[in-house]
Order: sequence, then structure tokens, then C-alpha cells
Amino acid sequence: MQDGGNSLENLSRFWRDRIEGRSETSFAIPGGEEAFLTWNRRVRGGHRWLSMIFTATVVANFGAMAFGEPPVWIVYSPLAPLLLLLLSGFYLFALPYVATWRSASRASGAD
Ligand code: HEM
Repeated sequence: MQDGGNSLENLSRFWRDRIEGRSETSFAIPGGEEAFLTWNRRVRGGHRWLSMIFTATVVANFGAMAFGEPPVWIVYSPLAPLLLLLLSGFYLFALPYVATWRSASRASGAD
């Protein structure tokens, strides 16, 4: 990439455009496309809200520590949202590549 400081921004835009269906090389496949995009938006929205829940559980840990040893359920409470963040994050990470495969298989006539 030639654009120095903006390359990360461009990479992010590249992914977003594909994930959100704004790119020509995106999910332009007949049938099921709408549902696929809706699902992708939901996973992204879920990931965003999970990040807030996860943050709240981490803050709760530090808050509880101010009063001594926190109860075990508070100590482990970040793990559940973190696991879901990991799974949905992997999904979001894989989407641009899935988009490329899907448009490639469409271009070659496979469906
Ligand atoms: C645990 C492993 C995690 C993985 C693998 C992961 C991965 C990702 C990926 C691939 C994206 C999409 C980036 C893009 O294409 O624009 C994303 C977005 C995001 N992640 Fe994560 N993430 C993880 C954990 C977290 C955590 C811990 C937080 C915050 C507490 C977080 C907050 C967000 C937010 C706010 C977005 C933007 C969502 C949106 O565009 O609406 N993620 N993450």
C-alpha cells in the first residue's frame, strides 16, 4: 500500500464495504443474499453490544476489588461475553474472505 498512515483506514473500509454489501465484489449473489446481509448486520450489532457487556463486567471486577476479594461469579463474569466476542469476532474477521469466495463462485457459474 502506498498511502502510508491511511492504509489501516483503507483496509477497514475495504472490509466494511464488503461486510455491509456496499462493494461490487461483495455478496452480489442471487437468492438468500438479503438474509445473509441481515444476519451479518446482526452479528456485527451483537458483537458491538457484547463489547459493552464485557466492558461492564471488567469494570464491575475493579469496582468489587475496592471492597476486598470479589465473589467468584463476578471474577468469572467477563468470560461468557468474551467467548461470544471471540466467536462473533472470528465470524466478522472471516466475512470479507467468504465474500470473495462467494463472488468468485458466482463469477465461475457455480451456485
Ligand atoms: C475476543 C476476540 C475478538 C475478536 C476476534 C474480534 C474481532 C473483531 C472483528 C474482525 C471486527 C470487525 C472489524 C471490521 O471489519 O470493521 C470487530 C469489530 C468490533 N469489535 Fe471486536 N473482536 C474481539 C473482541 C472484542 C472486544 C473484547 C471488544 C470490546 C470490549 C470488541 C469490540 C468491537 C467493536 C466495538 C467492533 C465494531 C463493531 C461495529 O462495527 O459495529 N471486540 N471485532
